[in-house]
Amino acid sequence: MSSDQAPRRSDAVGDDRGRRVGRGEPDPTGLPEGIRLQKVLSKAGIASRRAAEDLIAQGRVTVDGAVVTEMGRRVDPDTVSIHVDGMRVIVRDDLVHLALNKPRGMHSTMSDDRGRSCVGDLVVDRPERLFHVGRLDADTEGLLLLTNDGELAHRLMHPSFEVLKTYRAEVRGPVARDVGRRLRAGVELEDGLAKADSFRVVDAYADRVMVEVVLHEGRKHIVRRLLAEVGHPVRRLVRTAIGELRLGDQRPGTLRRVSRREVGELYKAVEL
Ligand code: URA
Repeated sequence: MSSDQAPRRSDAVGDDRGRRVGRGEPDPTGLPEGIRLQKVLSKAGIASRRAAEDLIAQGRVTVDGAVVTEMGRRVDPDTVSIHVDGMRVIVRDDLVHLALNKPRGMHSTMSDDRGRSCVGDLVVDRPERLFHVGRLDADTEGLLLLTNDGELAHRLMHPSFEVLKTYRAEVRGPVARDVGRRLRAGVELEDGLAKADSFRVVDAYADRVMVEVVLHEGRKHIVRRLLAEVGHPVRRLVRTAIGELRLGDQRPGTLRRVSRREVGELYKAVEL
């Protein structure tokens, strides 16, 4: 990970009455600590409080891996892991997940001491300490995730979780039939073997061919090097997806809040 470190978790927990109670200290009022599960779910926008009670009663909600069907259960939203129908629900309201369509020429850094355009310029006014998950070359466009969730970022960048990244590249054609097979079999690069998980030609117009490459590793310039090695130097490169998170038609240079469902998918991909 870059020097853009994840913030530490708050060491205070909230209660139903909106006060902050020090973790580990007894609540001086003697009232029970934590927030009712159905309230946590409704605050997270999952369902109304009534519908959240139904989800709980139907055994569709787990807290730290265990199904909870009792209604009175109180939880600490800062520390628990809650799933509904197997999908992680983000109940901490301090966590931020933003999708950026990084334009060409912008550097994947939170600050640039040479004054070059960088990702940090877009979030200078935000109160959270955000950092980018992985990097794209300055010449590469497309999807970059910004978050203040250090554990998520760490896992998304870790090769053991094998989160797939999808790229569209414009190369000079024609692309020979065996290129996909060669990329899937593995190509020897100067720092070792690299493989694509999948490859396809998306579109071809005269000698301009758009190809899609999916891979789960993140070595520097990996897509450019792979395609150059099979005879197709990249003219333009765009990352279009990270796992189930898609760039869609988001305009270059814009940020958008990642939806609850997309966040859930990201957490699921890295077993959080
Ligand atoms: N592969 C590349 O070659 N460049 C990127 O920015 C990302 C993947």
